[in-house]
Amino acid sequence: MTIKEIFNDMSYGPAPESSDEAFAWINRHDGRFGHWIDGAFTEAGEVFDTRFPASGQVLAHVTQGSVADIDAAVSAARKAQPKWARLSGHKRAQYLYALARLVQKHSRLLAVLETLDNGKPIRESRDIDVPLVARHFYYHAGLAQLLHSEQPGMEPLGVCGAVIPWNFPLLMLAWKVAPALAAGNTVVLKPAEYTPLTALLFAEISREAGLPPGVLNVVTGDGRTGAALVDHKDVNKIAFTGSTPVGRKIREATAGSGKALTLELGGKSPYLVFADADLDSAVEGLVDAIWFNGGQVCCAGSRLLVQEGVAERFHAKLRARMDGLRLGDPLDKCVDLGAIVDDRQLARITAMVDASDGEKYRAACAVPAGCFYPPTLITGLGSASPLMQEEIFGPVLVSMTFRTPSEAVELANNTRYGLAASIWTENINLALDMAPKVKAGVIWINGANMLDAAAGFGGMRESGFGREGGWEGLLAYLRPKIATKPLKAVQAVAEPKAAEVTGLDRTAKLYIGGKQARPDGGYSQTIWSPKGALLGHVGSGNRKDIRNAVEAAHAAKGWGKASAHLRAQILFYIAENLSARAEEFARRLFDMTGKPGAAEVEASIARLFTYAAWADKFDGAVKSVPIRGVALAMNEPCGVIGAICPDEAPLLGLVSLMAPAIAMGNTCVLIPSQAYPLAATDLYQVLDTSDLPGGVVNIVTGSHAELSKPLASHLDVDALWCFSSSDLSGVVEKASAGNLKRTWVNHGIATNWATAEGREFLRAATEVKTIWVPYGE
Ligand code: NAI
Repeated sequence: MTIKEIFNDMSYGPAPESSDEAFAWINRHDGRFGHWIDGAFTEAGEVFDTRFPASGQVLAHVTQGSVADIDAAVSAARKAQPKWARLSGHKRAQYLYALARLVQKHSRLLAVLETLDNGKPIRESRDIDVPLVARHFYYHAGLAQLLHSEQPGMEPLGVCGAVIPWNFPLLMLAWKVAPALAAGNTVVLKPAEYTPLTALLFAEISREAGLPPGVLNVVTGDGRTGAALVDHKDVNKIAFTGSTPVGRKIREATAGSGKALTLELGGKSPYLVFADADLDSAVEGLVDAIWFNGGQVCCAGSRLLVQEGVAERFHAKLRARMDGLRLGDPLDKCVDLGAIVDDRQLARITAMVDASDGEKYRAACAVPAGCFYPPTLITGLGSASPLMQEEIFGPVLVSMTFRTPSEAVELANNTRYGLAASIWTENINLALDMAPKVKAGVIWINGANMLDAAAGFGGMRESGFGREGGWEGLLAYLRPKIATKPLKAVQAVAEPKAAEVTGLDRTAKLYIGGKQARPDGGYSQTIWSPKGALLGHVGSGNRKDIRNAVEAAHAAKGWGKASAHLRAQILFYIAENLSARAEEFARRLFDMTGKPGAAEVEASIARLFTYAAWADKFDGAVKSVPIRGVALAMNEPCGVIGAICPDEAPLLGLVSLMAPAIAMGNTCVLIPSQAYPLAATDLYQVLDTSDLPGGVVNIVTGSHAELSKPLASHLDVDALWCFSSSDLSGVVEKASAGNLKRTWVNHGIATNWATAEGREFLRAATEVKTIWVPYGE
């Protein structure tokens, strides 16, 4: 071609990135890899292939990790952990800084290897993945440095198991490894079977940072290897990113084990375009939202919701833009979309799209032979159709229209997921009004896929729980440093041989929707004093009562929108009314337990004051992210919280859970102490006279063992706390897997209710929502 011809033609020429260095690294290992355990590679064992998806070329053979391999890696991590945790924050910061620098020094090698293994365009691995990895290690070097001064009284969890997916192999490694190491944990990482290479290269590079052996271990393999890590007895935490079904399995597998768990799962994130949006920018944003990494992104804006008046115009612009996208060799620097990670994923996408009866628009761009899928837009689907609900995990966008902002909210939230959302409008009032209404952990206003180490990322609902990034992410790798004692079961006073019955019969009912309600089953529990006096009866709640209470709690959700000032006032008022009846409550506690109750009542009043104080002080934050704009971290209520209250402190324990929940705007269903429930049932009257709207607090008395399961498995309960004196942690965690609600359980460890208050409770009562607001003309 002559220069003149090129000038007239203006087509892209090939701009290939060299893969020589990456292959040289693979060849140095003879194309066969063992695991990285205790600071060195093991011999390769039973191996499987990892391929360049664009061509199918085998890149290397990696080892299928066995139970014994996982065991060796966990032992190495365990051995290294105490010393790593004892290092000063500054010393750990130095290691993390060295890792950040090394990622930068080897950036091109890491980017090319990532593109080879995953098939994503080199433009993305070079300009997005690897810089974000470096940024993550820098940021966490800073967190390590500040850890002791900013988080006094916290300690690392121990050995963390990380299981990660194939869509951002190195970035997901960074998201797990950086906070774990900063906090003083050691790590066993299981990369995805399609994309193990950059984790192995990173592990090898970590030697150049002088990272002590055993601090970071990498065991390759498929889901079986992941399951072996999840099941290992000596692992203290599992951090998982991947599909919702596997996340659910991991929730069940870890139930009752005492392992901490964070899950970052799938999504079907809405991309809302209002009529007044800058439509051209919104089209460009959509290219990032759904065609970045070929749509193989958990937070992909895969569900376009566009306002009816501009829908036709917007779709026309979108189709024209789609036609201009370039698919091709991921190593070509001018390519927009690379290959799909694997034939199996391609087959999955193809089958899902083929099964849909929507109107399909396939981009007019050339599609190379092999593992490629064209950008596709599907319209004409109903909101319940599978493609509107299921994660496709490919370059396929589905679109619907809406008329009003409230319809937009309804459609946006019509999903099991809650990971991210984009809102496009030039009206900032509208955008900021929408942001809290859309159920998602991350909201991008006039943008998409903005990610940074300083800003929390993570989902709600079936998109999982826990945040990655920011202080909130680090806290998922720490726990309060306190001496622990095992829980002692508290039994109700047994029926005496000779009963002393005086006064009028009083039967405490359940408290649902602000009214006393008879238990559905018609059974009661008799409450005796240790001296043999009949104190009264309480209703034995059942599954139906739990359903009614959850329904009432839902109906009262307007409480979350009440001002923090109002919530504070009502908490003060509850305290005041409790104080007016302090003697009566103290006597009740004494009658039930045989121990003086005045101190517990006083402590309960003080606790109500504590959370009245916190109601308007548990502030969010403005994160320092590298954009022109702000990223707001807002503490939002979880929604409906179910709480099984402690037996050992019948009043204080209940107040310690109820008060932070309602202070943060949640509504709740409480199951009071099973052994000593009368303090809770007396509390109805206090709540009734304190202006607390009906349904904000619902109380169902009865057996902890019987009620915990229906409450924990209820799909409309958003979080479940269990502090029963009989350890029901396993039951509760397992039952929670249905809607993947957050759980907070005692794992058989006693809590000192005299001091149990503060931020840990407030964090459990809130979700951090990160709202990105870029600004400027
Ligand atoms: P996956 O969830 O099966 O894999 C993620 C990781 O979990 C991999 O490292 C895998 O080896 C491991 N794993 C699998 N089964 C396990 C088990 N029982 N215990 C412990 N670890 C286990 O995802 P997969 O099969 O690669 O992709 C299937 C679909 O999942 C995709 O089509 C996509 O829809 C979705 N997905 C979503 C991701 C997200 O970030 N939201 C990431 C990857 C996949």
